[in-house]
Amino acid sequence: CGIVGYVGGRQAVDVVVEGLGRLEYRGYDSSGIALVGPGGELEVQKRAGKLANLRSVLAEGPASFATTGIGHTRWATHGAPTDRNAHPHTDCDERIAVIHNGIIENFAELRAELETDGHKLVSETDTEVVAHLLEGFAELGLAEAMRRTCKRLKGAFTLLAVSVDEPGVVVGARRNSPLVVGRGDGENFLGSDVAAFIAYTREAIELGQDQVVRLRASEITITDFDGVPSPTRNYHVNWDASAAEKGGYDHFMLKEIAEQPRAVADTLLGRVGADGLLTLDEMRLSDQELRDINKIIVVACGTSYHAGLIAKYAIEHWAGIPCEVELASEFRYRDPILTRDTLVVVISQSGETMDTLMAVRHAREQRSRVLAICNVNGSTIPRESDAVLYTHAGPEVAVASTKAFLTQLVACYLVALYFAQVRGTKFGDEISQIIAELAETPSRIEEVLETMEPVRELARSLADERCVLFLGRHVGFPVALEGALKLKELAYMHAEGFAAGELKHGPIALIDEGLPVVVVVPSPLGQRVTHEKIVSNIQEIRARGAKTIVIAEEGDSTVEPYADALIRVPAVPTLLQPLVATVPLQVFACELATAKGHDVDQPRNLAKSVTVE
Ligand code: G6P
Repeated sequence: CGIVGYVGGRQAVDVVVEGLGRLEYRGYDSSGIALVGPGGELEVQKRAGKLANLRSVLAEGPASFATTGIGHTRWATHGAPTDRNAHPHTDCDERIAVIHNGIIENFAELRAELETDGHKLVSETDTEVVAHLLEGFAELGLAEAMRRTCKRLKGAFTLLAVSVDEPGVVVGARRNSPLVVGRGDGENFLGSDVAAFIAYTREAIELGQDQVVRLRASEITITDFDGVPSPTRNYHVNWDASAAEKGGYDHFMLKEIAEQPRAVADTLLGRVGADGLLTLDEMRLSDQELRDINKIIVVACGTSYHAGLIAKYAIEHWAGIPCEVELASEFRYRDPILTRDTLVVVISQSGETMDTLMAVRHAREQRSRVLAICNVNGSTIPRESDAVLYTHAGPEVAVASTKAFLTQLVACYLVALYFAQVRGTKFGDEISQIIAELAETPSRIEEVLETMEPVRELARSLADERCVLFLGRHVGFPVALEGALKLKELAYMHAEGFAAGELKHGPIALIDEGLPVVVVVPSPLGQRVTHEKIVSNIQEIRARGAKTIVIAEEGDSTVEPYADALIRVPAVPTLLQPLVATVPLQVFACELATAKGHDVDQPRNLAKSVTVE
């Protein structure tokens, strides 16, 4: 969910709604605001559906010139996305309004207790109990009421509250869910991330675990749940509002796809020394510790998990260290063998994904070291990890991840190569050779982007299909999985990715007359054996009626006779191929979804940052 809070001299409704607009990617099932006017009048407005619905309700303007406000865009957990379940929620007398991100696990028990005490709860949400708990402590002041309330809650939460008794005050609290403070001049802000207030200030304060913040126009007080003042960390945001705007593109996704060459270059920036070797002090492991690592486990969700699958090939090939890859939501529920010499690499664009965060904690409890590969500076996962490698892709707003994925791949390659360099599994000149090739990939990606018109045309021609399959081998297999995921997310089509070798063990039964099958073909030079095998696979499916869409390296003529559509990508070293081969699949899914009339930036049921388990 997206959360915004404001206290200052401006009309709060404008600041809050603008902030919500920038956070809408975090959830868009419903939205709402609460404003407190100068005389303590509370105005709450909320609507099911996207922010546009709330905006039209607000078009007439707020009842008074309120300079204190909170707002929320929701990704529904408890209760359907209706007007009533939208946030903010209020207490019995409508004196306190609350918004919430996360899940309050003991809400049923708290609700029963509150109802026994005579409270009347009207929604199905877990959030409403917070408003009623705050009411019970109201005479202690809003901040103290929040601290007492938080101590009664189990689960994950970011909470913001306003009260008619304290106009000019917003109180926030966090446990396991994100919340940052924006420091302005005579005005202050709260947001689930800095995008909420980036148009007003780039000065931010990270809020730690189990902290409560009381915000006034020129005062910020941060304490723990016992009221003890907490140390804070201030930081400056190194991108501005324009980076989080569409900049002439119809959709954020298109802009972010186009930004990939620069994003990849930025991931490499400053990490390669003059001798062509890597300097990755950020890994915060001594050379001896790097040599002692005997297993790497990569843990992530969604698209980031696909980056992890590719990382395995690179880590085992270059660094020679056994590597497992696991979905974060599964990781801690089995008994992974973790020791001090296991390095757990977690990959997360947002740095807030709850499944991944829980995996970090589990690994650290077992004394394993955790390296985060992350895009969002100062987010929770890097903060709780032993070390972090930022991808520097810039803000990614579209729900379906694109530039974050490519930059995650680059970061994974850097980790693998760094291990190889320190452990001596590859010679220095081999490493500098690969790094030189990596440095060329932004131009290669640029070339791919310049040749995408036929891919867009092809996508439009397939808009009425019901199903598309994706096949690949070696690193092309995770690329196939990612291509299928993009199509599911954006076009709501049945799409599956398979290892091409597995086809004969089952999926080939799906092949039917005219079924589109995208095949990612490895390099004929770098992967001679798998290349030959995949060319046979293409023939097998074509013989059974499939319409073959082949992604192959420039100059690879062997595939030509069997490709109904041929998408060319530049020749790059085998392990780097995902950096070029994924791009047409992103464009394909984006165009197909657009042809179907879908909102590509905000696909149904999804959210960019999923802060519940
Ligand atoms: C959500 C998004 C996906 C994303 C996944 C992991 O499900 O919709 O696009 O890949 O979370 O997110 P992370 O921020 O941890 O990379």
